[in-house]
Amino acid sequence: MQLFIDTADPEAIKKYYDLGIIDGVTTNPSLAAKVGRAYRDIVNEIIQIVNGPISLEVLGTNYDEIMREARALAALSENVVVKIPMLPEGIKAVKHLSQEGIKTNVTLVFSAAQAWLAAKAGASYVSPFIGRIDDIAGDGIELIAEIRDIFDNGLYETKILAASDRTPRHVVQAAMLGADVATVKPENIDKLFKHPLSKDGLDKFLKDFESSGLEPLV
Ligand code: G3P
Repeated sequence: MQLFIDTADPEAIKKYYDLGIIDGVTTNPSLAAKVGRAYRDIVNEIIQIVNGPISLEVLGTNYDEIMREARALAALSENVVVKIPMLPEGIKAVKHLSQEGIKTNVTLVFSAAQAWLAAKAGASYVSPFIGRIDDIAGDGIELIAEIRDIFDNGLYETKILAASDRTPRHVVQAAMLGADVATVKPENIDKLFKHPLSKDGLDKFLKDFESSGLEPLV
């Protein structure tokens, strides 16, 4: 499973990209608004940092506007994946954009039926928002399993991008159920690294060596 970082903040992207663990980036209008800098500048910086898929979302909600924005966003870089909201006009745009060779990510997916429609239209990615389903007492991770079955049965090549993470467990379960990508917020990437036994174990190794009086090898 690939790991994307879910932020529009170039500094956070650079920090984790430098670790060599990030395969791509997902953004959305809320994440762009949070950075507090000119949108054009942050997108240009992200494009410079990342050599991998970068999802940028359209703001239009009708077919003509989505098509206009999508073509302009795709022209920014060959790595741009145009994020399109789950709407009938959005799905129509996905169909035509896929015929033009423009990569798409259908976002705000909350049901297997929506994911299937996006795949039928030729979306490159679908983004089920698992955390937001859990937020309203649903089972977001179950949706990943349903979509995996549907895509495998129908031989759809659309990638499942598990989004709206809340916990490290979401990421692990998404991988176990066959998601192609998990996009994870920077603060949650930190949580993936952590385990109290790792910290305690390292503290003990270093303390034991120091108190032994042994000379380090190098
Ligand atoms: O990639 C989608 C993600 O940004 C949504 O996350 O936490 O707003 O539900 P959240």
